[in-house]
Amino acid sequence: MSIVTCIAPVNIAVIKYWGKRDEQLILPVNDSISASLDTDQLCAKTTIMASADFDADRIWLNGREESINNPRLQNCLREIKKRAQLSPEMENWKLHICSKNNFPTAAGLASSAAGYACLSAALAKLYRVEGDISSIARCGSGSACRSVYGGFVRWYAGTDPNGNDSIAKQIVPASHWPEMRILILVVNEERKKTSSAIGMKNGVLTSELLKYRAEHCVPKRVEEMNQAIMTKNFEKFAQLMMKDSNQMHAVCLDTSPPCFYLNDVSFGVIDLIHAYNEASNRVKVGYTNDAGPNTVLYLLEKDVPEVLGLLDYYFPSKPVDNVEYKRGNPPASAPLSEE
Ligand code: DP6
Repeated sequence: MSIVTCIAPVNIAVIKYWGKRDEQLILPVNDSISASLDTDQLCAKTTIMASADFDADRIWLNGREESINNPRLQNCLREIKKRAQLSPEMENWKLHICSKNNFPTAAGLASSAAGYACLSAALAKLYRVEGDISSIARCGSGSACRSVYGGFVRWYAGTDPNGNDSIAKQIVPASHWPEMRILILVVNEERKKTSSAIGMKNGVLTSELLKYRAEHCVPKRVEEMNQAIMTKNFEKFAQLMMKDSNQMHAVCLDTSPPCFYLNDVSFGVIDLIHAYNEASNRVKVGYTNDAGPNTVLYLLEKDVPEVLGLLDYYFPSKPVDNVEYKRGNPPASAPLSEE
């Protein structure tokens, strides 16, 4: 029996992937950029056992057996076998795949990205497939191709109809910007009503703004973001990220039927961050939202204590009577910067 184990990080996009030009091959309409979280914090861990003695391929996710016939899972298996030099022994292998996240699914984080990146890495190790595996992870879930690498990562949309150039590449490792911190605000633990796959599919079919964004906004923004990361220009980085997140959610509203991923708390956090940046006379914090109400903040290490204090005041984990954020009217005791 052969056994391999891999881990892969969760990634949070700062320029969003939203819309596929090919549903089958999972090819995006635009490039995207993300940061991978440290794997000692949030990651997926996958172990694959391969043996000719097993009766069938099987998969367990977080301890529960799931269907091996999931088409996206089958896509990854097919892609890896296409690239492998299959020995007669490998031809007879049946696989038992166990995958676990080290974070609660209830945290509402996209676990599929880390999961499919991890599965692809483990399959590549097992079948001794060398070279880039981001395009294999992409066949499981688009954003998974970015979780194949650490640090800041760019997924190139590519132009090849077969998707051969739709791959992810690392921009810089995490050590390039060691002061960068990410805060994940769990606003709601429920599963989202409209999956990102459905939301973006409807968007491609019905939103003119989606087309405009992909053709006229993201190409320039993605280059600027790349530059902001390379030069560690936090203000530029945060401004681009907030604009891009809001534009993605504007596309969601422009979609028919519209998808609402943000709730009142998400909007409250967004409003608070803008007021805080304004009061600080510079952009100290940036936010971004994926296909759900949870808000992710990017900020520099030195600003973490103050921002945590601010969040705790306006959005205490346990609701407190009479404390509510109202723009332009912060109570005197509000821990806003006095600079
Ligand atoms: C809002 O990668 O989950 O998180 O390719 O259909 O699996 P599929 O979609 P998925 O979409 C992620 C969308 C996003 C933005 C992003 O991560 O870039």
